[in-house]
Amino acid sequence: MSVKELTEAYKGWLRYEKIEDQDWMNENGKWLSAIVSSGTCTTVIESAIEELIKAFTNMTGQKPALSDSVQSSYSIVLSKIEEGDDASNELNDDGYIIQAKKTDNGSAVLLAGKTDIGILYASFHLLRLIQTRTNLETVNLRENPTNQLRMINQWDNMDGSIERGYAGESIFYENNQFTNNLERIKDYARLLSSVGINGISINNVNVHAVETKLITNDFLPHVAKVAEIFRGYGIKTFLSVNYASPIQLGDLETADPLDDNVRNWWKEKVKDVYSYIPDFGGFVVKADSEHRPGPFTYGRNHADGSNMLAEALEPFGGIVIWRCFVYNCMQDWRDRKTDRARAAYDHFKPLDGQFHENVILQIKNGPMDFQVREAVSPLFGAMNETNQMLEFQITQEYTGQQKHVCYLIPQWKEILEFETYAKGEGTPIKRIVDGSTFKNRFSGITAVSNIGNDTNWTGHQLAQANLFGFGRLIWNPDLSVEEITNEWIHATFGNDPDVVEQVSIILKDSWPIYENYTSPLGVGWMVNPDHHYGPNVDGYEYSVWGTYHFADCDGIGVDRTVASGTGYTAQYFDENASMYESLDTCPDELLLFFHHVPYTHKLKSGKTVIQHIYDTHFEGVEQAIGLKERWSSLEGKVDQECYQNILDRLTGQIDHAKQWRDIINTYFLRKSGIQDEKNRTIY
Ligand code: GCU
Repeated sequence: MSVKELTEAYKGWLRYEKIEDQDWMNENGKWLSAIVSSGTCTTVIESAIEELIKAFTNMTGQKPALSDSVQSSYSIVLSKIEEGDDASNELNDDGYIIQAKKTDNGSAVLLAGKTDIGILYASFHLLRLIQTRTNLETVNLRENPTNQLRMINQWDNMDGSIERGYAGESIFYENNQFTNNLERIKDYARLLSSVGINGISINNVNVHAVETKLITNDFLPHVAKVAEIFRGYGIKTFLSVNYASPIQLGDLETADPLDDNVRNWWKEKVKDVYSYIPDFGGFVVKADSEHRPGPFTYGRNHADGSNMLAEALEPFGGIVIWRCFVYNCMQDWRDRKTDRARAAYDHFKPLDGQFHENVILQIKNGPMDFQVREAVSPLFGAMNETNQMLEFQITQEYTGQQKHVCYLIPQWKEILEFETYAKGEGTPIKRIVDGSTFKNRFSGITAVSNIGNDTNWTGHQLAQANLFGFGRLIWNPDLSVEEITNEWIHATFGNDPDVVEQVSIILKDSWPIYENYTSPLGVGWMVNPDHHYGPNVDGYEYSVWGTYHFADCDGIGVDRTVASGTGYTAQYFDENASMYESLDTCPDELLLFFHHVPYTHKLKSGKTVIQHIYDTHFEGVEQAIGLKERWSSLEGKVDQECYQNILDRLTGQIDHAKQWRDIINTYFLRKSGIQDEKNRTIY
């Protein structure tokens, strides 16, 4: 690995800087000098030991002793909890205990799990405790992840490009081959495992010609090597597959899921895959969406399509992760009744109960596409006999493309807390996707990754917080945003209280600021087609049918009501359906997502819609300027490379925010003909 890569920025939150706090060291340093591991040294346990040795050496300046039995008065002890032990009932397979225990002549901090992976997670957790300078003397905690599948989706193509990637090229592929830099993949596995990720699909959901061959002998040996690295960190490898593989790989003339030849073809294929990767996770599938092939071609539905793959995977314990991002991107919405937002529910809800047990539907958090603000998908909770999984997007496609700071944990927290009323009050989304509401066999949360081969992984150094925070939040959705933020800052920038305070304010404010100067009141988009960066009010990918937000001289917004619009509101359970249906109860921030209103419509805030647009856009720019001022105050207090990276990005953000402000305000001044009450200059 080149020296450049080993910068502080590269190390991310696994930085393990030297502990200067002498008081803490005097009381706790003694535990960091010895590690005891008595059990079998599997690759996962090796990873734990390697991590602890690296961390303790850097933090204390001394390499800890490693032994298979307790030799010194104070030590860190890795231990397995056997079935039948008291603690065993309190833990699930990935859970663990960290506990300080008195011994005859000192004390041991136990890192104990029922499985090796539990012990690895405990090791990473211990390191976080040290990074936040927790006193180890009294430590006593028990952790179980709330979600079973905690996944990452890479949207990497084998030519090295990344769909919606904003941090360089792929770390997995270059020139249509696998990379030789396996060290970097290992470091990625460390970052992911440290926050509890246990699954990864390593190629883009849009599976092009070359990637279609990932399931052939040409590439399976390479996939196996990558899977081996991830296995050492408790992470299962998945592949995105092309639904038309039987045709595209030249074997058959159809991909009809009910055709016996097709079914057998997939069975043989799956056998091959498992011969290389015995613990292979399964397939991720995007079908019948944005020009991808799928079962519709054969007049079959998505249960037929996914069940066929599920049958092939079942004997090996594999699963099919079937995406619900299915819609007709060429649809003509000018009748104001046709609505892309309805698509996922309309396609999938009628199929409830028809999917095999090892199919899990992957549903984007909103019905549109990872906008800065949109309603939550009404599919959550709507299919009580079907496994469901939530998909977030860490890569900032519509939220500033890692040129702007936009901390997404508060957005995701809000979504997870959203009350669906699926089984009356008390069924928020987090309780649907963790499988507890409908007792699903499989459940969980996934997200599109935001990393590439940039030195700092994420382009914008602060975007690392989104990757870290995603893992922490899905491990335990009850963690507060503040807790997660605090952990990340301590691990990344150290413990200077001023740094902790300023960075947490920057992160906390960033999403509302971004929302202020971009698309207003939940209406979404307003970005340039194709690359999706930068303001373009009428911009919409498949905009052959004119503006999707229906702004004219009288008003703006999409009427999704049952009374007069697309009827989308009826897809929610009654309480939410009526809340959104009525102008009186629809929350301001989603007003234009659900209603078409005159510019003079008064929001609950007391402002008119048009004045809200002007005010937020002026304010957003001022706030972006404030972000840079705040960050500048930390010069000399954080690593120089990180400092400069963030400063440069914030400078660019201000310029770009001004563009947004001017383009949006001008557009609506011209459309509405209504002047700004405060008489500010609108270009
Ligand atoms: C968005 C995104 C695409 C992506 C798609 C998906 O439309 O712009 O690049 O392929 O989502 O999630 O499948």
